[in-house]
Amino acid sequence: MKSIAIVGRGCVGLPLSLQFARSGAAVLGLEASTDFSRIGEVDAITLCVPKPLNHLREPDLSYVLETGRALAPFLKNGSLVVLESIPLISLP
Ligand SMILES: NC(=O)c1ccc[n+]([C@@H]2O[C@H](COP(=O)([O-])OP(=O)(O)OC[C@H]3O[C@@H](n4cnc5c(N)ncnc54)[C@H](O)[C@@H]3O)[C@@H](O)[C@H]2O)c1
Repeated sequence: MKSIAIVGRGCVGLPLSLQFARSGAAVLGLEASTDFSRIGEVDAITLCVPKPLNHLREPDLSYVLETGRALAPFLKNGSLVVLESIPLISLP
């Protein structure tokens, strides 16, 4: 992989961006941009946007869905899209 966009640079996205940059990939996200049309420039996209729990303690996917809709028109054929996530464990 030569280039990657990291969407969302919080606890996960920022260190992931740094690690990809150290490995030699061009990282769209260290060069900050709010222009989603630039997604067409990269080979892979990683979504690192929040997925908080709602009042029912279910994951609120609105950030993921909103970001996916914003990216979709600009994806090129063969792009790899990765959703960073953690399994949610129901506690008794
Ligand atoms: N924190 C962890 O330990 C951990 C571990 C594994 C996976 N995850 C998953 O990784 C994802 C991100 O978690 P996090 O802890 O980094 O969250 P975070 O809240 O620290 O960071 C999310 C970032 O995304 C930004 N953001 C929100 N909407 C955006 C949009 N439309 N476009 C661009 N940026 C946007 C926010 O401003 C914030 O900077 C979540 O889905 C979480 O489940 C988290």
